[in-house]
This record gives sequence, C-alpha cells and structure tokens, in this order.
Amino acid sequence: MITNRTYAVEPWSVRETALNLDLLAQSESVFALSNGHIGWRGNLDEGEPHGLPGSYLNGVYELHPLPYAEAGYGYPESGQTVINVTNGKLLRLLVDDEPFDLRYGRLVKHERTLDLRRGVLERTCEWTSPAGTTVRVRSTRLVSLTQRAIAAVSYEVEPVDSRTRVVIQSELVANESLPDPDGDPRASRALRSPLEPEEDMAVGSRLRLLHRTRRSGLRVAVAADHVVDTSGEITTSSESNEDVARLTITSVLEPGQRLRVRKTVAHGWSGARSRPAMSDQVEAALAAAAHSGWDGLVAEQRAYLDDFWARADVEVHGDEEIQQAVRFALFHVLQAGARAEQRAVPAKGLTGSGYDGHAFWDTEMFVLPVLTYTEPRAVAEALRWRRDTLPAARDRATQLGLRGAAFPWRTIDGSEGSAYWPAGTAAFHVAADIAHAAVRYTAATGDTDFERDTALELLVETARLWRSLGHHDHHGVFHIDGVTGPDEYSAIADDNTYTNLMARSNLLAAADACERHPDDAARLGVDDEESAAWRDAAESVHIPYNEEIGVHEQHAGFTRHQRWDFARTAADQYPLMLHFPYFDLYRKQVIKQSDLVLAMYTCGSWFDAHCDEDQIARNFAYYEPLTVRDSSLSACCQAVVAAQTGHLRLAYDYAAEAALMDLADLEHNTRDGLHIASLAGTWLALVAGFGGTRREGDSLRFTPRLPEKFSRLAFRLQFRGRCLRVEVRADRATYTLLAGEPLTIHHHGTPLAVNGDGPVTRTIPAPERRPTPEQPPHRRPNAR
Ligand code: BGC
Repeated sequence: MITNRTYAVEPWSVRETALNLDLLAQSESVFALSNGHIGWRGNLDEGEPHGLPGSYLNGVYELHPLPYAEAGYGYPESGQTVINVTNGKLLRLLVDDEPFDLRYGRLVKHERTLDLRRGVLERTCEWTSPAGTTVRVRSTRLVSLTQRAIAAVSYEVEPVDSRTRVVIQSELVANESLPDPDGDPRASRALRSPLEPEEDMAVGSRLRLLHRTRRSGLRVAVAADHVVDTSGEITTSSESNEDVARLTITSVLEPGQRLRVRKTVAHGWSGARSRPAMSDQVEAALAAAAHSGWDGLVAEQRAYLDDFWARADVEVHGDEEIQQAVRFALFHVLQAGARAEQRAVPAKGLTGSGYDGHAFWDTEMFVLPVLTYTEPRAVAEALRWRRDTLPAARDRATQLGLRGAAFPWRTIDGSEGSAYWPAGTAAFHVAADIAHAAVRYTAATGDTDFERDTALELLVETARLWRSLGHHDHHGVFHIDGVTGPDEYSAIADDNTYTNLMARSNLLAAADACERHPDDAARLGVDDEESAAWRDAAESVHIPYNEEIGVHEQHAGFTRHQRWDFARTAADQYPLMLHFPYFDLYRKQVIKQSDLVLAMYTCGSWFDAHCDEDQIARNFAYYEPLTVRDSSLSACCQAVVAAQTGHLRLAYDYAAEAALMDLADLEHNTRDGLHIASLAGTWLALVAGFGGTRREGDSLRFTPRLPEKFSRLAFRLQFRGRCLRVEVRADRATYTLLAGEPLTIHHHGTPLAVNGDGPVTRTIPAPERRPTPEQPPHRRPNAR
C-alpha cells in the first residue's frame, strides 16, 4: 500500500498542501507544464529554492564528444544533451528588505494545485519574513496548448497586516547554474553555460534575449511582456545584459492592497533563421498572445482541454488513487505530444533532463498507442518527425553495412546518441516499433494521405533493414541474429521473439502498403521481387520454442541459460544494473522488463493464430518469476497480459505501479523528469488490460474484465472518425457510439453492431482460474 502521500487524492487535480524541500525536485517534475514544444518544470516562481531549474524547448540540444577508452568502428562520436534554455518563469520578490525565500522566515500556508481540466498550475502561499512582515502570494502559470510559443504567469502579492515595500523583479535568465548530476547514468550531463549571447534588450515592459548554442548552432530567442495592475503607486525600470533581462516593479502596499504582474513569455528556436527573424518571431508571438489577453489564454486552454477530455477521459470507480493517476497520466502524455509538431517525444517529455532529453522506442510503443485513440493528430506529427530523420537513419544503416534505415536507439536530432552497442544500437527493434506505430495510426484513423506520404517510406526503409539484417538458413528459415530485444539484461541475442515477430509484421505491412500504392512504391525503388522477398522472410521467420518445457523462448537458447540467483539478491541490490556487471546479467535468465510478454500483447494476433490460451498463460507464468522490473516500462505490459490471462488481482497491482510511478516516486528518480512511458502505460493497463481492447486490422475487439476493486471502468476511444464509449462493470460491458458511423466490434469473440440507436450491453464470461504466477523475491508489486 502506498502511504504518506505527497498529494491529495482528488479526481481532477494534483495538490500539495505543504512544502517539503527534500521533495522539491520531484514536485517540479509532477507540476511541470508543457505543450510538447515548451517545457517548464514546476519551479517556484522566485527561482529558489529549487531542485532542478528547468526550461526546455523541444529539439534544442547541445553536442558533446562521446569519449571512448577504446574506440571502435561505427561508434557515434558525438552525443546530444537537452539544455536548460533561457528561463522565463522567474519573478523574484523582495519584501521590505528581505528576499522572499521559503528557506527563511515562516511559511504560514502553502498550496500548489495542478488543475487537469484548466491546464494551469496554481499556487497560494502566506509567508512571514524573518523580520516579521507577512505577505500573501498567488500565482497561476500556464504553458499554452493553443499558442505553441507561449507560456504565461499571473503573479500577485499582497501584504497581510502592515504597510510593506515590495519589489518584483521579472526576469529572463540564460545559463542558470545547475546542481551537479548525482552519478546515476540515467540522469543528464549538465552542460555548463551552453548558450552564447547574441542580443539582449529591455525596453519598458518588454524583455528579450537571444542566444546560440556553441556546437549545435541553434538560435534560441525568448521574449517577455508584462501587464502590471495595482491600485498603489508603482515605479518600474528595466535593464539587460548578456544573460539577464529584467523588469523591476516597486510599490508600497497597504494591507489588502494587491500588486499583480501578468507576464507573457514567447519562445522560439531555429537552426537556420537569422537574429532579426528570430526576434521578430518571438515579438509576433507576444503580439498574438496580447491579442488574446490573459483571460483569453486561460479560456482557450480550458476549451482545448474540455475537448480533449470529452474524447479521452477514463473513469475509474472503486479506486480514487487510480482515478486521479490515470487523468494525471493522460494530461502529461497529452502535454508531451500535443504541440511537438514534427519533433520527438522524449522519454521524460519536457519535464526534466533525465536520459539527456532523448527519445527512445518509448514514444512509438507506449506514448503513441494512447495518443492514437485520444489525440491522433499528435501521432501523425510524431511519425513525421521520424520520417524527417530518415536521411540520418539511412546513413547509419550504410555505416553499419545494412540496407534501409537504422533508426537510433536514443536521440534528439535523429542521429544515434547511444555510445553503447549491446543495450543501445543493437536494439534494432526500434525500427519495427516505428513501423508498428505507423500501421496502428493508419488503421485507427483511415488516414490514407498519411499512409502515402509518411508511412509508406517508413515501412519500406525498415523492411529493407530487416531483410538485410536477417538471413535465411539452408532450410529457408529466416533468422535475425545478434540483436537486443526490449529486455536489456539480455543482449546481442539470436532470434529475439519480440524482434522477430515485430519485424515479421513490419515486412508484411511494407509489402501490403506497396501493393496499395504501387506508383509510390515504384518511386521508392520497390519492385515485385523485393516485396516478395519481404513476404518470404516474414513467413519463414524463426520463433524459438522450448518443446521440453512448452514455452516460447525470449530468444533462441534463453531457457537453457542459468537462472539468476534471486535468493541471494538483496532488496537493495535492485536495480541490478547498478549493482552487478552486465556480463553476468547477459548470460543468465533474468529479465529487466517485459519482452516475450510484451510480444504477446503487441503481436497478439500471431499468438492467437498459433497457440491457445493455455500456451499464453504458460508463457506468462514462466517469465513472471524472472522479471525484475528494473525499467518502469515493464509493469504496464505485465498488467495487460496478467489481465488477459485472468490474473486480475496481479494485473491490478501492476496497473497501480505504473499509475503511481511518479505520484509516489516509486523509482526515486522522478526528480529527473516524469516516466512518460509508464504514465502512458497506465492507460494501456486500464484500456488494453481491463478493457481488453485490441485492434485487429481496422476493427476493434474487446475482452473486458474488472479486478474486484473496480466497480466500474469507462473509457472513450477515437476510431476511424468515431467516438466509442466502453463501460465495464463486474458482470457486463456496455458499448455506446457517441459519434460517427455504425461499426462492428467484437465482445469476447462475438461480433456486435454498435450504432447511433443507443448503448448495447453484453455479459462478461468468468475467466479461467489459474494459479497466480510468482515474482522474484523482493520484486512482487505492492499489493493494494
Ligand atoms: C529501458 C528502455 C527505455 C529507456 C528509456 C530503459 O531503462 O530499459 O527500454 O527505452 O529506459 O525509458
């Protein structure tokens, strides 16, 4: 059971009512606001105290050399790291003679609320300075979902019981000093002073700073404008230097009299645009925001989110924590992708600098499934980013002696950023994950333009990769050797089942798409012989199976390996990669994260066609006691398959782990940024797990079943221009078509027509009873 919650459990908000300085970095991630283009961590308005100051622009990074003790052919030479760009959030406050700093004096009242419907972070606090002056501060912050370049803050100060001199300094600050990284390889390398000054300006209430990154050569422009409102007298001044632009507002306020500053901040960056063009760009964004005004920005934000929730909400009855967590998760997944617009969706979104701001397969296999059924437009944008990085992926394939496109394991700009072959570049499955996401999006939306202009090329180039990476043996069987699957505790393995099955559907999807679009395929150089070779490889791909124990192998030979000595592994030796050498992890049966189990979900139709439910249950039961969940990507996948195999109680515990990953800081690293894939996994656990939702071709199948704790689960899906609502209770499920044309779905294997005539209800058959599989000692999910 999760105890000592930091945040109040409320259905539509995340609220803290005390300020714990030790948890500041964590709450900065939880309270981060983003639209996928701009990311502002939830730092206090005054800037200090802070855990990790963070303002990010999607795609703005710096290059750094990747040092190798022993270099090898094809090792990437240059790494990419997200940088903390010019901070526009700052509003420093002086109360009489003392800086408003919550480390001093007395904090009488403190409350911060992330409002998931309004899309704002609100703060109210009352503070008494060491000299005894008490003030109230209220602020509201938003990063606009409707105006991509804009973030804004309304900041208000009011003396409580005596006449008080207040000074507000509203700033833009570049090259902020950052705390030293703590040595965790998953944290970021903080680059010191990454921004070279190019221009600074402070005129009246307007501020502007232009900088350029030293090596990556990206120009970053941030500008601010202010509206000051008070019944008291004010004086203002503004100034700027290379790294700071400041507007200072001074007033003497009577008790109850308020001074309010509304600050609008515009952001822009480019690798190509000139200084004047960048200045104009941010000034224009400010003008557009001024046209809406503060109230307009707030209203637009609300309308955007009302629309989103009408399409995407998930209702959970019977567990308030999960109800809050799934909305929190959806909110952050939306924030990560909403306006990314042909940029990556990083593993941490724009909520922190963990993993150096890199995007992984997390995007295609965890984030995009959620967005496909809730905010499909964002999916097309994310995949267009992948398409735009095809030149780099083709170069990488050529460098590796392969054909087609070798997409990077981790990246910001599209080039490989992983300095580590075994648990990095060898994870070629990312190519199939991208293809899978393109097929999923096309099937779920019917967007044929996208298929032609984006998906086709992705499919063709990834199919070429698989065909050149794999080989037919003398029996004609197709093998893909020496790759790393999702489980990073097995590396450079032969015939990883997940990889082979995903490659199989990639090859088939490419051949099918070429048949649908012969002219475009010809333009890409595909002829009949090539697509026949893809089908041939797909149809003869090897799927390793151990006859003796009757399970599918994670990779060829996996089940023959020695088992990890779990009995001798202490609770504090997890995650294993921080306590044991990789060589030992690689040669034993121990699994970092779902791999074969994930394949049973993502390639479910292959398993349905090739084996019965008992086989799936046996596979799940075999891999459970080996899976340690040292990656936050695992619990949600285990939840989905646990639910599928009737282990609803276990599925519930896994779903809760995915859901509470950040709200309860289960991995103690939420400070570095949110686990966006695990947040997305909350939705997967509920919708694919308990909802039993699967897409097959262009139709939907459901096998819903609830855990005992839920009295009701309801979710909405966007599907081929329709909006479908599914409501599940213990004994029955109800399907309602909220918008769009009639469609036929499947409920527990039976076809069901759903049309505008009203809800259709069907009973839910009881699941098969099977013994609950064990987990490794110390690695059982918390029982709720
Ligand atoms: C996982 C990867 C994941 C990465 C970023 C790693 O710990 O093993 O699968 O892509 O984290 O979330």
